[in-house]
Amino acid sequence: MPIIHTIADCRSFVANEHNEGHTIGLVPTMGALHEGHLSLMRRARAECDAVVASVFVNPTQFGPSEDFARYPRDLERDAQLAAGTGVDAVFAPSAAEMYPAGFATFVEQSAPVAERLEGQCRPGHFRGVLTVCLKLFNIVGPDRAYFGRKDYQQALVITRMVRDLDLPLEIIRCDTVREPDGLALSSRNQYLDEATRRQALSISRGLGRARGAAAAGERRAAALAEIIRAELLAAGPCSIDYVDIADPDTLAPVETLDGPAVALVAVRIGGTRLIDNCLLEP
Ligand code: PAJ
Repeated sequence: MPIIHTIADCRSFVANEHNEGHTIGLVPTMGALHEGHLSLMRRARAECDAVVASVFVNPTQFGPSEDFARYPRDLERDAQLAAGTGVDAVFAPSAAEMYPAGFATFVEQSAPVAERLEGQCRPGHFRGVLTVCLKLFNIVGPDRAYFGRKDYQQALVITRMVRDLDLPLEIIRCDTVREPDGLALSSRNQYLDEATRRQALSISRGLGRARGAAAAGERRAAALAEIIRAELLAAGPCSIDYVDIADPDTLAPVETLDGPAVALVAVRIGGTRLIDNCLLEP
């Protein structure tokens, strides 16, 4: 399986596939691949004739005090794992290839779906995500691109960009893959030691309890959020960025569950920022 480093080589790879009449699936990642990423690649493999996975730690989506420099990088391992799922090519450009000197155009989204939660806690984050995704879509020209619900807001924001800018592809959202004990897989789990890993279980536990309470008839969003907060705080010292109960499509805040809602959490545990979410169904 080829590892492609330049935009020109990537374009000629996909041009061949298009000429054969093949549909193309794209799985954008920042590498440090785990079963969550691989589940997207397997889904793309099942649904598309050719699959391109990108591995690019995108500098424009990291804030100045975030973990860009120490983000785990191991392209050889990533390429092997991707190849194991049947991916046809890995696109792994350098930062200079994607953002040459003089690069000056960015995608901004000014809907509440992009401005709340991650948009508020990580200013400029979605601007970087949307810009790199639009570039990847333009370079690869996929029929479908695959994203995980683990990054619930990201998938919504990208879907919105595709609609707003009439991009000719379909965004496929895939379920969150978890460890057997409930922890959502994340490249950032590598930062956790034994104690913080155990503490981080409070996230999925809190979400699970809120889901159970909603199913049992609790409709007050504030009460559901409090269940999650209490679980996080009981597990040890942490700094909660947000616990939010929101409309699953617009991410507008919800006060009473009149239909399905999404519970979203961002919390720092021992210096590692983790996010997770789950659907609440009354
Ligand atoms: P990254 O964090 O590497 O994630 C790549 C894709 O894998 C995203 O769509 C994410 O939602 C999905 N993913 C991560 N953990 C998952 C899990 N446990 N279960 C299912 N899917 C999971 O998200 C990014 O990279 C970047 O922002 C990117 C979109 C590549 C733009 O740079």
